[in-house]
Amino acid sequence: MRWKSTADRYGMVAVAIHWITAAAIIALIVSGFRATNLTDPAAKAGLLRVHAGMGIAILVLTLARIAWWLFADDKPSPASTTSSLQSRIASATHAIFYVIILGMAASGIGMLVLSGAGAILFANAPGALPDFWSYLPRIPHGIGGRALAALLVLHVGAALYHQFILRDRIFARIGIGRAK
Ligand code: HEM
Repeated sequence: MRWKSTADRYGMVAVAIHWITAAAIIALIVSGFRATNLTDPAAKAGLLRVHAGMGIAILVLTLARIAWWLFADDKPSPASTTSSLQSRIASATHAIFYVIILGMAASGIGMLVLSGAGAILFANAPGALPDFWSYLPRIPHGIGGRALAALLVLHVGAALYHQFILRDRIFARIGIGRAK
């Protein structure tokens, strides 16, 4: 596989970023909801350290991904089985993914900064974790988490529809299996 994308498949860099991001986003959604429901302060702090660290890593990776598309690589052409409306929906879905991921990272960082929890979690500052709901960024973070989960289901559903109903081996474009 080449570093850069071709007209019919994504390149190695785009494929690697896609799958790392996919795994991290699933882990972030699960750990975020789990952290919300934890009542034990030490367990909650431990999980939030991982969650916040991973969220910041995904922020950096997403910015790198945007830079990669802007300055280094071009997306493959839409699959031949995709109508122009479907391909516009797919492009919009991808753009919304970026917007929500950036918004999740910004609101997550906002919560930790405004509440002082960043210092408690990462600099051993004394005190208990706050009720994050007292801080405004908690609202978009909760809505964005649900929107991201819904978008993920839509995205995976569309990919499975292509792969198994249209049988166009769309997974090969993103590094899984062979093209026809
Ligand atoms: C793409 C990145 C991220 C995703 C997908 C994500 C996802 C989530 C989800 C789904 C929740 C649970 C929401 C709810 O219960 O309503 C959550 C909670 C939370 N997240 Fe994130 N998050 C991300 C990034 C971050 C970052 C970068 C930080 C901090 C630097 C952060 C800090 C928190 C905190 C403090 C909570 C609240 C826990 C509570 O209310 O007890 N998140 N996150």
